[in-house]
Amino acid sequence: MSERFYLTTPIYYVNARPHLGHAYSTIVCDAIARRKRALGIETWFLPGTDEHGQKIERSAKLAGSTPAEFAAKVSNEFRSSWERLGLTPDDFIRTTEERHKRGVQKLFVTLRDRGYIYKGSYTGQYCVSDEAYIDGEPGTICPDCGRVTETVSEENYFFKLSAFERPLLDYYESHPEFMAPDSMRREILSFVRGGLKDLSVSRTSFSWGIPVPGDEKHVVYVWLDALANYITARGYGSDDAESKARFEKFWPADIHLIGKEISRFHCVYWPAFLMAAGIPLPRSVRANGWLLFEQSKMSKSRGNVVRAESVADVLGVDALRYFLLREIPFGQDGGFSFDALVQRYNGDLANGYGNLVSRVVNMIHKYFEGAVPSAGKLTDAEEKLSESATATIAEFNRSFDAFDFSGALKTLWVLVAETDGYLTANAPWKKPAERTDADHAALQARVLATAAEATRVLTARVYPILHASAEIVWRQLGQGEISEASKKNFLKSLAWGGLKSGTKFGEPAPLFPRAEKDAIDRMQNLEDQNPHSAVEAAGGNDGKKAPAEVTCGEASGGSAAKAPKMESADQTKAVEAVKPAAEKAEAPVATAIPSPVAATSVEPVAVVPATEEKPLISIDDFIKIELRVAQIIVAERIPKADKLLRLEVDLGYEKRQILAGIAEYYEPEKLVGRKIVIVANLAPRKMRGLESHGMLLAASLEGGVPALAGFHEDVPLGARLK
Ligand code: MSP
Repeated sequence: MSERFYLTTPIYYVNARPHLGHAYSTIVCDAIARRKRALGIETWFLPGTDEHGQKIERSAKLAGSTPAEFAAKVSNEFRSSWERLGLTPDDFIRTTEERHKRGVQKLFVTLRDRGYIYKGSYTGQYCVSDEAYIDGEPGTICPDCGRVTETVSEENYFFKLSAFERPLLDYYESHPEFMAPDSMRREILSFVRGGLKDLSVSRTSFSWGIPVPGDEKHVVYVWLDALANYITARGYGSDDAESKARFEKFWPADIHLIGKEISRFHCVYWPAFLMAAGIPLPRSVRANGWLLFEQSKMSKSRGNVVRAESVADVLGVDALRYFLLREIPFGQDGGFSFDALVQRYNGDLANGYGNLVSRVVNMIHKYFEGAVPSAGKLTDAEEKLSESATATIAEFNRSFDAFDFSGALKTLWVLVAETDGYLTANAPWKKPAERTDADHAALQARVLATAAEATRVLTARVYPILHASAEIVWRQLGQGEISEASKKNFLKSLAWGGLKSGTKFGEPAPLFPRAEKDAIDRMQNLEDQNPHSAVEAAGGNDGKKAPAEVTCGEASGGSAAKAPKMESADQTKAVEAVKPAAEKAEAPVATAIPSPVAATSVEPVAVVPATEEKPLISIDDFIKIELRVAQIIVAERIPKADKLLRLEVDLGYEKRQILAGIAEYYEPEKLVGRKIVIVANLAPRKMRGLESHGMLLAASLEGGVPALAGFHEDVPLGARLK
């Protein structure tokens, strides 16, 4: 392992306010950075904001401010959010900074001088939301976000991406560690093998960007601009000796941590730009999956975001960090819900680790006046616990370094339960009549010294993740400031047996008070009080007029959609499902992760005469039904099922199979490409041996003839109907 370590987050667009989806990658990076530092590795952790481009220009306009003011305001929110969450970035790059502009211009000129950029003209489709060129006819839908592309016709500079098809494939082959997970690697390989076309790297239709040196009516393509942040932040483009030395030392980056949907930019364009410029390539690109809320990607455009601060304000920053790393297998999509969060919090933190610390610290105060006793002669039970702790540490390290944060924490929590079980089995608080006072004192000393040592080891290991609580516990264990210990690389030499007898413990302090029933309401209320849209937060009329902003959230009334409320029955379930803190720690409470795909099958259309008397439903009943726009991408008959069609539909954020009882009325081939409305949150159901994940909507005409619901306007895939 190199003695210096450079890791980056994606830089976030400033057209959305920070939410949990952004916090997720940044928190993962923070945990990695804290661990590296505590291992004595000189670490540089870089987040930042991506501030140029047409969509930022448009959002600023809607907010009634200049792009520069707008970008500064939202960028500041990201920075404050990371501060509020106690993250430890070493720098924060903004693409509107002078150092960045210099570097981007230098990169552009270098590419041009080396013959990899030429001038040509381009007419084609552009997705403003993704700032990406899309192959296709006018009106083509962006395959990534489902929005309608715009036709642009411009004289552009082009990058000779086509020249890098072979070099990239060779590089991937000789550097298998370059990208992960495997699903992303496969996708990238197939994309590059499919052939690379030259890439337009400048725009003239708007001006909010970095001017192309010597041809200032062009601005540099926003992805070339954005990707360069990873080098400009470390000195590329600055000619002073100090910047040069910094760049030499810290480049190439060890890890670019990204969301899976921006892999093409990081694994194809970025290495090609670097190869062309003669700059070494980053060592690895690692993609996280998406954080889902209500079964779809948490994102501003879907209006289903939750702010990290709402969780931190109610349950603390560690609860959020623990949940994200423990609950979601890194690289996969994972569900966030207040319910699951509170279950994890109460089960693993309040009743688990928090309860263990409180038992150990309180008993050492009660029986030994707060000073760690000498363990005396050990028995098999102590040997077993110490062996277990040593094995746990090794396993934790292996898993963490392989990005299996969930596995690492799971392992550590087995040790929490083991230590707790050890305490309970030896019951140092209970003196059986037949035990002499001297024997009892010896048992208390042995058991509490051992449990305290296990707690110390656990706390040190968990520090990169639960840093705020580890700081408190470290003091309680008489170890001083954990941030100071980290500066002295305490994880490098951490081993069982480091807790000295006589160490004076600090005062017990509450760690993870149990979350009561109102915790979810409090988080929800904080959500309700905050605008989620950057435009609204900046004082503007939210994006309902901007093409890139049209969403179902806005359709319901203009201002940003709020995170939907939980059902109170669910809240009760979440809180009641856990055991009282006073009880001994048990294996962690199992948490139901909402499946990313949880919807059911289709019956043929229900025929209910509009005039029939039916009881009225409330808005709360209606809101439970998740109606979304989907596009049919495959339609085929099912052998021996005359009425059923098998459809594959694209919701923008995921594809799924639906069976529909419309075979008698629709030719399958005519359905492909059609946008329909589906009930997205029905439980899956099997029909004819096939699973159906949803139900499509249609008007029921005379004789039960269906007419599929659709739209006259262009609507993005996945948009929710409200
Ligand atoms: N500006 C570009 C990145 C340029 S990097 C040189 C961008 N910005 S973004 O704000 O749209 O997204 C930034 C990152 O946030 C992406 O990696 C994206 O995956 C991540 N996330 C945004 N919402 C997310 C979730 N709901 N879940 C997990 N990550 C999510 O793309």
